[in-house]
Amino acid sequence: DKGLKLYDPGYLNTAPVRSTISYIDGDEGILRYRGYPIEELAQKSTYMEVAYLIILCLYTILFMKTFFVKFISFIRLIHVSVVYGNLPSENQLLDWEFAVSQHSAVPQGVLDIIHSMPHDAHPMGVLVNAMSALSVHHPDANPALRGLDVYNSKQVRDKQIARIIGKITTIAAAIYLRMAGRPPVLPSNQLSYTENFLYMLDSLGNRSYKPNPRLSRALDIIFILHAEHEMNCSTSAVRHLASSGVDVYTAVAGAVGALYGPLHGGANEAVLKMLSEIGTVDKIPEFIEGVKAKKRKLSGFGHRVYKNYDPRAKVLKRLAEEVFSIVGRDPLIEVAVALEKVALSDEFFIRRKLYPNVDFYSGLIYRAMGFPPEYFTILFAIPRMAGYLAHWRESLDDPDTKIMRPQQVYVGEWLRHYAPIKERT
Ligand code: SDX
Repeated sequence: DKGLKLYDPGYLNTAPVRSTISYIDGDEGILRYRGYPIEELAQKSTYMEVAYLIILCLYTILFMKTFFVKFISFIRLIHVSVVYGNLPSENQLLDWEFAVSQHSAVPQGVLDIIHSMPHDAHPMGVLVNAMSALSVHHPDANPALRGLDVYNSKQVRDKQIARIIGKITTIAAAIYLRMAGRPPVLPSNQLSYTENFLYMLDSLGNRSYKPNPRLSRALDIIFILHAEHEMNCSTSAVRHLASSGVDVYTAVAGAVGALYGPLHGGANEAVLKMLSEIGTVDKIPEFIEGVKAKKRKLSGFGHRVYKNYDPRAKVLKRLAEEVFSIVGRDPLIEVAVALEKVALSDEFFIRRKLYPNVDFYSGLIYRAMGFPPEYFTILFAIPRMAGYLAHWRESLDDPDTKIMRPQQVYVGEWLRHYAPIKERT
């Protein structure tokens, strides 16, 4: 087939990405961040610790290449022994949390852009703009202005990483407050990462705000569960943009754009609309028949990789009960649990290996916490910044990374010649 001009995958960089960040076994329903099972991290760690684990690696690059090439010339050995950033020590964690808190303020120009948007703009559309605007406000880390080697410096990279992790919660809070017609609130450096986020959402800068430790712990666990997930659609977007040499803010803005999609990060909003539409348990059979007739999808079910229960959904299902015990029970949880039970016993879903994914229960938790449905995907974007930045950094460090250019198979007209318009039918 003449249209199939296959190049060596390495040349077109279409070989699978090699990564050390997270591992998924879709058949077994396994997810690990740098070897740590997600269930253990959700139970014992914090989002700040997990972000450190995911993003910050100590690389000991023993360049054997120059030595061997000069003297042996046929062995090209670059021995990159990646000493994974194990969970941080107490001092490393304190340094990391301090660096992030120092970067939590947001340039006024970015806040102005957020407030210039139509009041009913979707929060994710505003976030795409805000992340892209950060690029303009941080020219010091822009390869288009400073040259491609600007990121060769570990200090420059670490600063951009701390800036994005620090600023994303302040930007997200400003977007939330804009929806309520309220001005942004400055971040507090006295509170933990998640408590500070809830403080900015909850207060008009009133310093007597009392964090609710159980609620901030629940949100911290949700952030851990959403922090990283291998080569999903939006993380692949980061790698794709970063491979062109574009700055990290613009690359992350592209990922936010991909996450905005209802089939990806927007699914938790779609789940809530679906559960509200079903309304009561007795309406589930009719709804399921509609899904089986292909009239609609069962939102929050199915996954590109998981052909088993998404391990994150199991944690979220239990966490929902914890949150309901704090803020009150959402009656739609009965519909969700009954819907899951019916689907998991129905041949249509079993044959297609469709199970609840991370979005099936998260929307109910967010609504119980008082977030409007259109804001749910923002709560996905905040923690996923850790995964985006880890993959951005790994792609910069990978000597085999080339500009992304997926292969195509040409199946169009092979060769034709131009005809003057008078001769065309
Ligand atoms: C996320 O990739 C990641 O890691 C993403 C994510 C992350 O952490 O980054 O995990 C986050 O995006 C989770 C997924 C959120 N999306 C949704 O919940 C939307 C509903 N889900 C579906 O749209 C769907 O399952 C996808 C998009 C998630 C996956 O789509 P695929 O890969 O096309 O599904 P498939 O090939 O496995 O489908 C097999 C069959 C098809 O039917 P047949 O053609 O065989 O008859 O199952 C059907 C599909 O139509 N199917 C569904 C369905 N999902 C797949 N039918 C009804 N309801 C669904 N939800």
